[in-house]
Amino acid sequence: MPLPDPPSRNTAELLKHNQSAWNRMASGGHVLAKPASESELQNPLQTVDGLGWLEGGIQGWNVLCLAAGGGRHGPLYAAAGAQVTVVDLSPNMLELDRQVAKQRQLPIRTFETSMDDLHMLANESFDLVIHPVSTCYLASLDRLFPEIARVTRPGGLYISQHKQPANLQSSLQTYTGQYVVEHAYYDNRPVPAATEPSKLREPHTREYVHSWNALLGGICRSGFAIEAVSEPQHAKPDAPVGTFGHRCYYIAPYIRLKARRHGSSSLKLEL
Ligand SMILES: C[S@@+](CC[C@H](N)C(=O)[O-])C[C@H]1O[C@@H](n2cnc3c(N)ncnc32)[C@H](O)[C@@H]1O
Repeated sequence: MPLPDPPSRNTAELLKHNQSAWNRMASGGHVLAKPASESELQNPLQTVDGLGWLEGGIQGWNVLCLAAGGGRHGPLYAAAGAQVTVVDLSPNMLELDRQVAKQRQLPIRTFETSMDDLHMLANESFDLVIHPVSTCYLASLDRLFPEIARVTRPGGLYISQHKQPANLQSSLQTYTGQYVVEHAYYDNRPVPAATEPSKLREPHTREYVHSWNALLGGICRSGFAIEAVSEPQHAKPDAPVGTFGHRCYYIAPYIRLKARRHGSSSLKLEL
């Protein structure tokens, strides 16, 4: 019988590894390290909220942009009227936020830390937590969602996007025209690295599959109710085999979730 996998942990070595990868992306002008454009900043709420999940606006809200460095999310939410805190593991990604904030005199503060260690942030201090794709860079989500719940006020919103498990499990290339499942759903080691540039994996990062139980169950168990779900559309049925649009036609890449913090703490709910 095979030995059970060791419990996954977000070791200092893993964080250092992914921090270096993101530092390099920030310095190299990677597409995920591109500050918001002038036209996006003219209509910031429409840019970030195409789904209308923030329909009443966010004027005066305290917003945490979590694992969201790069000069895009923080400046857009601040331009929409919020007081913004950006948290990220990569100092180079955060530097892009500071540069845009300075140029545009936007109210943004930044903290360099792992997304599952928010000790510098007070309990129930945010009306909204925005969390772009990044759970894949942690080996374990055990501490993440309880920590997000702790800093979100009762009734506050948690809007997040994640790579779907099948996206991370599946090959990037086709083999005789088919994508193949090459990483087990319950394998807690990093997924195979991309061998060539891909919109579906970030260069030199270690990425992990998280089960639906870890993602959706983890959010619910931490004291949130999921109110809305969306799967961003990138599918192109007629795209050439093996391209991004073709793979997204076969395998949905992302899921976007809107969750609301319960009025009472998760501790009380578990009693
Ligand atoms: C996909 S980017 C998100 C923001 C990006 N500018 C965008 O346009 O989508 C993912 C971010 O997660 C950060 N990150 C990776 N691991 C992290 C961790 N353990 N804690 C906090 N941030 C982390 C990276 O430094 C990167 O800035």
